[in-house]
Amino acid sequence: MKIDKNNAYIPALKYRWMTRFYDPLIQWGMQEKKLKMHLVNQAALQPEEVVMDLACGTGTLALLIRQSHSHVQVIGVDADPEIVAIAKEKINRNQTNGISFKEGFSDRLPFSNNLFHHVFTSLFIHHLTLEKKKETFEEVRRTLKPGGQFHIIDFEKPQNGLMRVAFFPVQLLDGFETTSPHVNGIIPNLLKETGFAAIEETGQFSTVVGTLRAYRAFKS
Ligand SMILES: C[S@@+](CC[C@H](N)C(=O)[O-])C[C@H]1O[C@@H](n2cnc3c(N)ncnc32)[C@H](O)[C@@H]1O
Repeated sequence: MKIDKNNAYIPALKYRWMTRFYDPLIQWGMQEKKLKMHLVNQAALQPEEVVMDLACGTGTLALLIRQSHSHVQVIGVDADPEIVAIAKEKINRNQTNGISFKEGFSDRLPFSNNLFHHVFTSLFIHHLTLEKKKETFEEVRRTLKPGGQFHIIDFEKPQNGLMRVAFFPVQLLDGFETTSPHVNGIIPNLLKETGFAAIEETGQFSTVVGTLRAYRAFKS
C-alpha cells in the first residue's frame, strides 16, 4: 500500500493497539491533571471564549478546560479517527456539553482564519518532523485571533542527566527524527520563527519519561 506522507501521523502511543492504554499510562507516569491544569490556568480564560485543543487525543485537556470554565466553547481536533471516537465517548460519559471534536491535521487545520481566542496543545509537538512543526505553528497563528494565545506543554530540554536518560524510551517509541530537536529545546525558537510574540516559559516538570516545559505565546 502506498503511504501518503501528507496523511501520515503517529498514533498516541505509536501502535494502534496501544491507544486503549494511553489514559492509564499518562495518568500514572505524568501527574497528568497537574500538568494540564497548569496550562489551563496560565490562559486566564474568559466567558464565551472559543478555544482549540490541538491533537486532543482522548480529550482529557478539553474536558478539564470545560469543567473548570463552563462558559468557554472547546473544539478538539485530532488526525486519528479512533482516538477522536474515544474522546467523544469520554465526554458523553462525563455528561459535559460545550465540547465538540473534529478530525483534522495540524498542518492544515479545518478552521477559518482568526477564529480562536486560545489554542492549547499538550504532548503533541514532539510527534512532528521539523517541517511539520513549523507548518503547524503557522496554522495555529492563522487560526488564532489577533492577540490570541498559544499554550504548549511538551518534552523539551532536560533539566539534568537523569531527565535526559528518562526521555530515551520516548525517543525509541516516537522516533528520533521528531523528538531529537526537543533535547536542545526547540519550541521557543520555532515560536519566534513563526511570528509569535511575548514568548514565555511558564513552568517545567520532571516526569518518569523526561522534562516537560510549558510555554505561552501571543499572536501579535
Ligand atoms: C501523545 S498524544 C497527546 C494527546 C493529548 N494531547 C494529550 O495530552 O494526552 C499525540 C496526539 O497527536 C495526534 N496527532 C499526531 N499527528 C497529528 C497531526 N499531524 N495532526 C493532528 N493530530 C495528530 C495523535 O493522534 C495523538 O492523539
